[in-house]
Amino acid sequence: MPVNDNKKEIIRLLRGSEGNPVSGQEIGEKLGITRAMVWKYIRGLRREGYDIRSSPKTGYILDACPDIIDPVELKGLLKTSLVGSEINYYSVLESTNNTAREIAQKAPEGTVIIAEKQNKGRGRLGTEWQSASGGIWMSLILKPSIPLENVSRVTLVAGIAVTNALRNMDIDAHIKWPNDVLIRGKKICGILTEVSAEVQKVDHVILGIGINANVKLSDLSEDIRRNSTSISNEMGKVIDRNRFVASLLYELEQQYIIFKTKKFIDIVDEWINLSDTIGRNVRVTTPNRIIEGKAVGITEKGALVILDGNHERHEIIAGNCRY
Ligand code: BTN
Repeated sequence: MPVNDNKKEIIRLLRGSEGNPVSGQEIGEKLGITRAMVWKYIRGLRREGYDIRSSPKTGYILDACPDIIDPVELKGLLKTSLVGSEINYYSVLESTNNTAREIAQKAPEGTVIIAEKQNKGRGRLGTEWQSASGGIWMSLILKPSIPLENVSRVTLVAGIAVTNALRNMDIDAHIKWPNDVLIRGKKICGILTEVSAEVQKVDHVILGIGINANVKLSDLSEDIRRNSTSISNEMGKVIDRNRFVASLLYELEQQYIIFKTKKFIDIVDEWINLSDTIGRNVRVTTPNRIIEGKAVGITEKGALVILDGNHERHEIIAGNCRY
């Protein structure tokens, strides 16, 4: 077996033992190598950042893994059939959305592009997205049979999935319209949805999801830091990004199934339950106007419904929302 496969197998065995020691002999027998070779691999793994305890009497225990996204490990953790059916991992990219766009036509639905680093991450409304180290920068290619006017529904669904994945870790996350996820009012995730359509019918949707997972807030610029947080900052510990991505892809698949099989009004209800925006006084800036008033709901197209001071009702499909 190649060196890397042996190392991966050792990690798999140690992870599987859930904190119990695994002897060098047992590992050696499973891999068909000597105990001395096992020891050599263990030293190599330690150099890569794996925290492996060893005792000559009992064996090896994996205490901690380095904070890296490992596509092989990630695939092993997946419980999905569509989302993540293909995972294209890159150590560095300009933007996962750009790469997704290049391959989307030929790629199967459910393909995920994920990068450890982005040099030119893009945010909504033409902004730059700061992709500090330790984040989750990924794009999911979906091919729903929907008219173009319903695409923003997919973004709402993605917001629900991210929020659920965070709540699974006991983090009190909420959605800010249109597609930010907040913790304690601070942004932890942004979603950039891009679409390709022909004659009003969607060809593919690219859901670009950026999550400040293990991002150090000091690595963000001052203006962004003011309104941002990260999972590690909230939990006081570095999280296992592979497990979190696997859980996120699971939630995305569940929501996508609901999206395709249920009435959209049920999704709207769920979104409103998780929302941070509904009931607040907001100020929404669009390219041609600014609307101030109380956010009272969203429409089936994902537009924010605002009642202004004159009780006039406004439906805003896209814009920058502040409160
Ligand atoms: C926003 O809130 O403005 C949306 C941010 C979206 C960022 C993600 S990171 C992965 C994907 N690739 C990009 O270039 N952007 C999205």
